Amino acid sequence: MTLTTNLDLGIDPETDDPSGAQLLTTALSILAGHERAARQVINLVPAENAMWPIARLPLIADLASRYMFDQHPDPDCAQWRFPGAREAQWLETGLTVPLLQRMLGSAHVNVRPLSGLQAMEMTLACYPAGAPVAVLSPSQGGHYATADIARRLGQHVLTVTGPDPHRLDLGQLAGLCATKRPALFYIDQCHALMPYDIAAITDTVKEASPGTVVHADISHLLGLVLGGAVPNPLDCGADSLSASTHKSFPGPQKGILATNRSGIAASWQLVQPQLISSHHFGSVAALGLALASFADRAGDYANTVVACARSLGKHLASAGWDVAGADIGYTHTHQLWVTTTPRLAARVAAERLYAAGIRVNWLEDLPLGHPALRLGLAEAVWCGLAPADMPFLAQLIDQALTGAREPADIATDVAVLRTGERFPFAVHPDEAATTALGEVTALLGGEVGGTS
Ligand SMILES: Cc1ncc(COP(=O)(O)O)c(C=O)c1O
Repeated sequence: MTLTTNLDLGIDPETDDPSGAQLLTTALSILAGHERAARQVINLVPAENAMWPIARLPLIADLASRYMFDQHPDPDCAQWRFPGAREAQWLETGLTVPLLQRMLGSAHVNVRPLSGLQAMEMTLACYPAGAPVAVLSPSQGGHYATADIARRLGQHVLTVTGPDPHRLDLGQLAGLCATKRPALFYIDQCHALMPYDIAAITDTVKEASPGTVVHADISHLLGLVLGGAVPNPLDCGADSLSASTHKSFPGPQKGILATNRSGIAASWQLVQPQLISSHHFGSVAALGLALASFADRAGDYANTVVACARSLGKHLASAGWDVAGADIGYTHTHQLWVTTTPRLAARVAAERLYAAGIRVNWLEDLPLGHPALRLGLAEAVWCGLAPADMPFLAQLIDQALTGAREPADIATDVAVLRTGERFPFAVHPDEAATTALGEVTALLGGEVGGTS
């Protein structure tokens, strides 16, 4: 089985002067090759997920080309200087926003950010230059950009540490809050085997510095929070949260913000015009459909993701691999961290897995102090893998890492693992939805195929 079929289609800009049609052929061939491979590999990159095909439709529909600035619920009362998405505004104001409000238990939701990082920028930009802002040290799993963005905004960065990657030093946090009175404590865990205890953190912060806003960036954890496998920070006392919508949650590449405090929601509204123009209405609609597809079985999905991650960790450890977090059952999230050195450099390990049809991260900044693999089970579970598949998946990973079998043979088994029920946790369209879907796909398919 060949996974990479497109490399010989490349164009040399120095010597080639291809026609538009030739470029189109090459581009479409590459796209087709990617699509073929995507159906045969297992993607264990924890920052990615696969979208349910129906949720992807808005991304190729006309509304992906429209601005949708006017969020007023009554189109007749609104300004509509950009009226192109006027009839479709319900997809944001009636679907995406209310679903997020309901699923997060949040009075205010903002879907303007294009990504998790932009949600972070919007949150930090609410505070003036000179404001003290507390962030997690990278050894606590904090995002690489958070402190730098705060510094660019002229803020005074304070760093919160902890005894291990799963806990903060609440004594240090209390002292820092009492003496420095940060305007904001931004809690982000991009590397997370164990979600932080937001209730204990919030209690500590509020006792020492009642005015400090506690913000939880749950970019990696959104799908698990919506499914109840990880506590919702807003229920634990956090003032606000933000997230990417495409990591443990199987949505489009986008970001969201949520809070129950109207003052915080108003601050986001104030900064957003300077940071975002179009918020990509097609992605907002795709997010709404992704939420609708996900809502009914969110808990089953989230619990299965964590169960699969724990099971894969256990089986990889049994095979002799150094899986972090043995004392916590390897993980309480979708992530696993696997050290392959000294047997194999992490980069080489990731390459071997890639050749066998298994995609993983190899990272140098995991809170382990050395390069290692970062795996995640969210996409695999959303696409159909179950806890019963984990022993075999661990065996295939072990074979790829040790070189016990040819990568192409392993890739064939990987492709077979993908042949179970696709998207088992997504909603099943009823008769009316199927009819509406038929109309949309006929219109889009006809246009793409040049027949309408
Ligand atoms: C905690 C956290 N915040 C923000 C981001 C950035 O998200 P995005 O890639 O959607 O911009 C990440 C990405 O890994 C993250 O883990």
